[in-house]
Amino acid sequence: MSQSILRWTTLYTLFCTQVPPTDALNSSAFQSYQPAFANLLGDSPSIVELVTSDLQLFHEAGVYHAPTKALWVASDMITNSSNRFILRVTGLDSPSSIHVEYINHTIPNPVGAYRYVTGTPLGDIILFVAQGTMAKAPPGGIYALNPFPPYNSSLLLGSYGDYPFNSPDDVTVSPDGTIWMTDPVYGFGQGSRPVPLLPNQVYSFNPSTNDVRVVADGFGRPNGVKASPDGGTIYIGDTGAQIGNGTLDFQGPRTIYAFDRVGNFLTHRRVFATPQALASAPDGIKVDSHGNVWAAVFGKGVYVWDAEGTLLGTVALPGTVGNLGFGEPGFTNAISLA
Ligand SMILES: *[C@@H]1O[C@H](CO)[C@@H](O)[C@H](O)[C@H]1NC(C)=O
Ligand SMILES: *[C@@H]1O[C@H](CO)[C@@H](O)[C@H](O)[C@H]1NC(C)=O
Ligand SMILES: *[C@@H]1O[C@H](CO)[C@@H](O)[C@H](O)[C@H]1NC(C)=O
Ligand SMILES: *[C@@H]1O[C@H](CO)[C@@H](O)[C@H](O)[C@H]1NC(C)=O
Ligand SMILES: *[C@@H]1O[C@H](CO)[C@@H](O)[C@H](O)[C@H]1NC(C)=O
Repeated sequence: MSQSILRWTTLYTLFCTQVPPTDALNSSAFQSYQPAFANLLGDSPSIVELVTSDLQLFHEAGVYHAPTKALWVASDMITNSSNRFILRVTGLDSPSSIHVEYINHTIPNPVGAYRYVTGTPLGDIILFVAQGTMAKAPPGGIYALNPFPPYNSSLLLGSYGDYPFNSPDDVTVSPDGTIWMTDPVYGFGQGSRPVPLLPNQVYSFNPSTNDVRVVADGFGRPNGVKASPDGGTIYIGDTGAQIGNGTLDFQGPRTIYAFDRVGNFLTHRRVFATPQALASAPDGIKVDSHGNVWAAVFGKGVYVWDAEGTLLGTVALPGTVGNLGFGEPGFTNAISLA
């Protein structure tokens, strides 16, 4: 397997099956807790820094679009820019071939993304969730972006009935085509959204029927969301320990929860995993084809658990990793904060 790792200012690639390039970070970055981790990474895993910036360009999303061999990334808030950037990164094989393209867009403060590959009616698109801004329009919610030129986009879901969303953070699609979205209150704390009118909760949206519903509540700050390969389990990260103003609340959650999906409901909420590193919290989550759960863990790097919640291993990265995404078989790209 091969994947991309998103660091806030730097984009890395984790090569899992190839001979390490000479510019790879040293092998002590890999900490194995179970033999299965070595099976997952191959004989000589390595991490290569692909591109770095003075700006926090490589913050969220981390969605690979295989037909165009492009990794889609959202930036953090950028000083002197009224909106977060969307970047299309190609030439991911090495630092010498990397190409970062800024995409013109009108999605208000895009954050998490997912490639919608499941059937109709939306076709081959990148879903982006957007926090929104202080303005009423365009609203926070779910947008569809065309991964082919001219990269146009359109709004799919802009409110929960009468309520504007707080500041949507991450999105995924289960195999039946249902869209799942987390909506923490971070935008208000960051001064980019009005006073929240909704709790910290998670929504599902069926684009075939327009059925939108609250599927889970009781979170501190719901953050990453992904489904198991069969769609029967939904993983939701809670970074409630991070209030969003720089203060760490040690009484708050920093945990990935698992839920069983039964029909259109989420049941059997349970703690799936909590990273042990001091002051760490799981941000972006991705699930591989074996059902292993990969999380970008603030302050540490990438953590990998099997579907039973056993920690298989960790990959240390400098800075704070915000998200990751799987690329071509054999490598992962990760985004992190220097
Ligand atoms: C090796 O990489 C790890 C993780 O990035 C880092 O903490 C360590 O300082 C590195 N060691 C050397 C000798 O470069
Ligand atoms: C950009 O923002 C910085 C920090 O807020 C400010 O000092 C600087 O003047 C701004 N530059 C421009 C060109 O607006
Ligand atoms: C992006 O938009 C600006 C302003 O409308 C335009 O000048 C520029 O050519 C556009 N870039 C691309 C790549 O479409
Ligand atoms: C992009 O524009 C085309 C042509 O107007 C339209 O058919 C398509 O739905 C648009 N795609 C998105 C994702 O908005
Ligand atoms: C962040 O918010 C908490 C809760 O309102 C408050 O106790 C703390 O002082 C705030 N920290 C900063 C740095 O503003």
